[in-house]
Amino acid sequence: MFDIENTRVLVTASSRGIGYGIAKVLVSMGARVVINGREEERLSRAVEGLKSMGGEAYGVRADLTVREEAERLVDEAARLLNGLDALVYVTGPPRPGFFTDLSLDDWEYGIRLLIKSALWVTRKALPYLFESRNPSITYLSSIAVKEPIPNIALSNTLRISIHGLAKTLARELGPRGVRVNTVLPGYIYTSRVEQLIRDRMERYSKTREEVVNEIISDIPLRRIGKPEEVGYLVAFLISKYASYITGAAIPVDGGRLRAVF
Ligand SMILES: NC(=O)c1ccc[n+]([C@@H]2O[C@H](COP(=O)([O-])OP(=O)(O)OC[C@H]3O[C@@H](n4cnc5c(N)ncnc54)[C@H](OP(=O)(O)O)[C@@H]3O)[C@@H](O)[C@H]2O)c1
Repeated sequence: MFDIENTRVLVTASSRGIGYGIAKVLVSMGARVVINGREEERLSRAVEGLKSMGGEAYGVRADLTVREEAERLVDEAARLLNGLDALVYVTGPPRPGFFTDLSLDDWEYGIRLLIKSALWVTRKALPYLFESRNPSITYLSSIAVKEPIPNIALSNTLRISIHGLAKTLARELGPRGVRVNTVLPGYIYTSRVEQLIRDRMERYSKTREEVVNEIISDIPLRRIGKPEEVGYLVAFLISKYASYITGAAIPVDGGRLRAVF
C-alpha cells in the first residue's frame, strides 16, 4: 500500500503509543524504520515487535529534551538506514495541567520537549533529506492547536510553534523538493490518554466510565482512535501519492474538531 517499500524513516518518540502505531503501519508496508525512546527495555521490546512482523527496524535510545542526544539520534538513524527519506517527528507527552498548576520549570521542560527538540532533529535531518528522491517531514502535533483543550496548557500553548515551523519550512524547502506537513491527532488510545482520563477522574471526582463517556460523546464517530489510524495518514503523507501536498495540517480525530477550517 502507498508504495513505500524501502523508504528510510526515522520516527522519534516511538517505543509505544502513537509513534509505535505509526512505525507498525510503516513497517507493515515495507518501510525501513528507526524508532526511539528513553527506556532501553521498552525500546528493545518495541523493536522486537516490529521485527516479528518481518520488517526491518532498529531502535536508538535518546532523550529528545537533550540536544546532544536528539542530534545523535538523527545521525545514528541515518547511519543505520544508510540515509533518510522521511523524518516523522513525534515527541513525548507534556505534563498535563491548567496554567495555574504549572511551574516555570514545567514550562522550561515543555519548551525543550515540544519546540526545541523539533528544531534539533529537523536541523540535523535536513542534510540527509536533501540527498533523498522523495524527502518529507511530518510533524505530529495535536487538535489542541486549533481548539485548546482544558488541562493541557503546555500543549495548547507551545505546539502552535510547530505549525509556524512547518508552514515556514514548506515554503522554504518546497523548491528543493522537501514536503512538510503536520498531523493533528484527536483522542488516540495510548497511555497518555489513560493519564488524561485519570487526571480528570481525580480533579472532578468522576468515575472512569463518566469521563470516557464525556470524551466520546463529543466525538462524532463516538470512539477514541487507534494509533494505527494515525499511522495510515503518515504512510500516505510520506509516499509519492502525496507528492502535491505540503504545508498541510490534517486532523485524525473522528470529527472532534468543531472549527470549519
Ligand atoms: N494520545 C493522544 O490522544 C494524543 C493526542 C494529541 C497529541 N498527542 C501527543 O502525541 C505524542 C505521543 O503521545 P502518545 O499518546 O503516543 O504518548 P505515550 O503513549 O506516552 O508514548 C510516548 C512515547 O514517547 C517516548 N518519549 C517520551 N518522552 C520522550 C523523550 N523525552 N525523548 C524520547 N522519547 C520520549 C516514550 O518512550 P520513553 O518513555 O521510554 O521515553 C514513548 O515511546 C505526545 O506529544 C502527545 O502529547 C497525543
